Amino acid sequence: MSQATSPSVTAGCVPRPIRFVHRGRIAEISSADTTRTLLDWLREEVRCSGTKEGCAEGDCGACTVLVGERAHDDGVQWKTVNACIQFLPMLDGKAIRTVEDLKQGQALHPAQQAMVDCHGSQCGFCTPGFVMSLVHVYERERACGSTPSRQQLADDLSGNLCRCTGYRPILDAGQRMFELPAVAQDDAATAGLLEQLAADPPLAYTDARGARCVVPRTVASLAALREALPDARLLAGCTDIGLWVNKQHKALPVLIATTAVAELARIETRTDGVLSIGAGVTLEAAWGALAERHPELTEMWLRFASPPVRHAGTMGGNVANGSPIGDGAPVLMALDATLLLQRGARERRIKLDAFYLDYMKNALEPGEFVRAVEVPQPAFTALRAYKLSKRFDSDISGLSCGLTITLDAQGIVTATRLAFGGMAAVVKRAAHAETAMVGRPWSEDTATAASTALARDFAPITDLRASASYRQRAAANLLRRFWLETRRDAPLSAQQTSVFARESSA
Ligand SMILES: Cc1cc2nc3c(=O)[nH]c(=O)nc-3n(C[C@H](O)[C@H](O)[C@H](O)COP(=O)(O)OP(=O)(O)OC[C@H]3O[C@@H](n4cnc5c(N)ncnc54)[C@H](O)[C@@H]3O)c2cc1C
Ligand code: FES
Ligand code: FES
Repeated sequence: MSQATSPSVTAGCVPRPIRFVHRGRIAEISSADTTRTLLDWLREEVRCSGTKEGCAEGDCGACTVLVGERAHDDGVQWKTVNACIQFLPMLDGKAIRTVEDLKQGQALHPAQQAMVDCHGSQCGFCTPGFVMSLVHVYERERACGSTPSRQQLADDLSGNLCRCTGYRPILDAGQRMFELPAVAQDDAATAGLLEQLAADPPLAYTDARGARCVVPRTVASLAALREALPDARLLAGCTDIGLWVNKQHKALPVLIATTAVAELARIETRTDGVLSIGAGVTLEAAWGALAERHPELTEMWLRFASPPVRHAGTMGGNVANGSPIGDGAPVLMALDATLLLQRGARERRIKLDAFYLDYMKNALEPGEFVRAVEVPQPAFTALRAYKLSKRFDSDISGLSCGLTITLDAQGIVTATRLAFGGMAAVVKRAAHAETAMVGRPWSEDTATAASTALARDFAPITDLRASASYRQRAAANLLRRFWLETRRDAPLSAQQTSVFARESSA
């Protein structure tokens, strides 16, 4: 008997087909590979080829679909995801809506009709993806009786690329759809089917090659499986792992998906003011909670990937993946975050700034996983997060940082945390620059001394995103910008220092 199906390590997961709602019925999958993507299944198995494949790495949005889960009000909560980086077992117990499902009778959905009216499509390859993102905006805004500003629409569509139409008519369509006769989405039948699926036991799926994916529903079963199968790969939102399979053709013989563990998807503010973000909380929800506490993080939130990637990817996955150019770690390190780790029943805590050991190596022990990211009550005077990338929206950073400073009543720096990504093999704090600041007045001289000290903290490399000298100079300039924005006398507003000052209204 294989490890994952032996009674001692199933942790309640039962061998059965993958089941999800598609086109008004429950689809059952029993022979697809564990890493078969939703996009391939849609196009090749059920011939729903309206959903397109462009990049197969979450970048272009041609494959955007809606995934639904049961909502607290017994309805269905839909969100956009990139079907090209979603493995089928992750969809167990959920519902899928694609561009084929939008028409009611002969009538196009307002998002489709508006694209026609505004000439939002030429070759049409990107159009289904744009339409699905627009449907998401339409339903979200209609639920609160509002309409989005043009800037909000641009943010909502930042994960959809169009090579030929140009974005003006597409944004026009995004506004026009609210002027058309309203349609209401009737989710009653889908909600009923989701209710049925909820009665299924947790999934233990094995494909024809013998590869396995287990999908536990509680932290206790996740912990038991993780401990029993230390060589298994944890699978959260699949926005990193999807690329290992699609682009690097990596084999993943045993997967433990965290997607169905409700406790891992919780955000709570504890009585001691700590914001606890479960490792399975989506990037969208995690950045939303962080930006609610620290509005200075809003731009970082909106520039982190795109809505479909943020709806699937998790903060736990971002931190655990530990890319040196990841955007979560610099901010969380500046906020003095701690990771709650678990192995079996044992829990331990580690400061995020002690978690990364070397390039893509972290302090997790075999059988251990990240359970939550804990962000303490803020005790600093100012916080900023900066991201430099070749494209403003939906791009990986060449360099990013999270910076905090604490000043006393005399304007002396009593503490600072300067965390940089893209400057070394791991995200790390700039110890020399911090030392150059503490105990000194927060003046131009101190900022210059700290910028100079950065050269002792980092020896960045040149790669396709940025050269070493660019990184070194840009990091020093960002520290200067930090000073300009946080100095006591005449601090510059973010609007004054940002090349991309955002419009405040429609
Ligand atoms: C188009 C695109 C744009 C992107 N843009 C950005 C960006 O702007 N900034 C950025 O930082 N990243 C970006 N990313 C990378 C990615 O979205 C993030 O790193 C994401 O947070 C990964 O989370 P996930 O849940 O998808 O992880 P997965 O892909 O599921 O897993 C990633 C790694 O984390 C491990 N893991 C997951 N959960 C746990 C856990 N609880 N405990 C221990 N290990 C765990 C997995 O085993 C794996 O090694 C982008 C990705 C794409 C595809
Ligand atoms: S095919 Fe490009 S995002 Fe999926
Ligand atoms: S219409 Fe051709 S890519 Fe958008």
